Amino acid sequence: MGDKVIRTIGVLTSGGDAPGMNAAIRAVVRTALGKGLKVRGIRRGYQGLLNEEIIDLSARDVSDTIQRGGTILQTARCHSMRTEEGQQKAAAICKKYGIDGLVVIGGDGSFAGAQRLAYYGINTIGIPGTIDLDIACTEYTIGFDTAVNTAMEAIDKVRDTSTSHERCSIIEVMGRDAGYLALWCGIANGAERILMPEEHDYNEQMIVEDIQACRKRGKKNYIIINAEGIGDSMNMAQRIEEATGMETRATIIGHMQRGGSPTCKDRVYASIMGAMAVDLLVEGKTNRVVGYQHGQFKDFDIEEALSMKKEIPEYQYDIAQRLAL
Ligand code: F6P
Repeated sequence: MGDKVIRTIGVLTSGGDAPGMNAAIRAVVRTALGKGLKVRGIRRGYQGLLNEEIIDLSARDVSDTIQRGGTILQTARCHSMRTEEGQQKAAAICKKYGIDGLVVIGGDGSFAGAQRLAYYGINTIGIPGTIDLDIACTEYTIGFDTAVNTAMEAIDKVRDTSTSHERCSIIEVMGRDAGYLALWCGIANGAERILMPEEHDYNEQMIVEDIQACRKRGKKNYIIINAEGIGDSMNMAQRIEEATGMETRATIIGHMQRGGSPTCKDRVYASIMGAMAVDLLVEGKTNRVVGYQHGQFKDFDIEEALSMKKEIPEYQYDIAQRLAL
């Protein structure tokens, strides 16, 4: 904790966008203005910071945004921010614009940048914004709830046609290297199989045999939720169709999972996290991440957040398998 007085807060969104980011931006802006601080919005993430795409934000600039998907500040992935030179330049630009506290809304890559800025004297607080739910110190990340509901609704639709044609459907959901979206959809959509990178030792021959056994038991379809981290859905569909004789189709839901109006949960949790990030900066805290654990919003050291590995709860995966009888 430092004794630096915060007068101007900057806010940026970085990495993949996530529904609810606008609610967090709005909360940062209005909480900061309410405390008599100045707010600067940085467009296009760290890349925009390096290009000095910095604008003043008023309470009205964030009107009518809480219900909108995406991010009004735009976002980008920035390679220069991984270099020492880029990090020093970004810190110098913050200082030039009087930004003494910075709120970074994004995933772990974005937090690594925030950690470096903290090292160079800019007080930083991270807010977990990613549909992947892959940040270890928090049970909630902005956007996951909306994305998982979007995917669930899409899978319900695929299921209808899959049942009509008595097919096997492989549906690929996002998540990068994490299987949370797959696990939740698997349970919510009553899938026969969930394939996730965390349980990568899946056996395709076993799936083939299970499909055949399910057909004999009179099942009208066979739904496989495949995580992006495993991928290969199109080829997998071909292999399974050849081995089972059951018509098989692959659907990759893709970026529609990242868009759309945020759910109530994403709006409310993102608003709380945005406000809390400003409160933490005003208290003099830096190099922290806002998280949600055991029913409470808390802050964690960024180091801790980045070093912890998030595991898939074995018990939940086991339940998903038991319910797929
Ligand atoms: O991190 C969010 C995410 O949507 C991942 O699930 C996915 O792997 C990645 O971003 C896709 O990134 P891009 O939009 O840059 O292709």
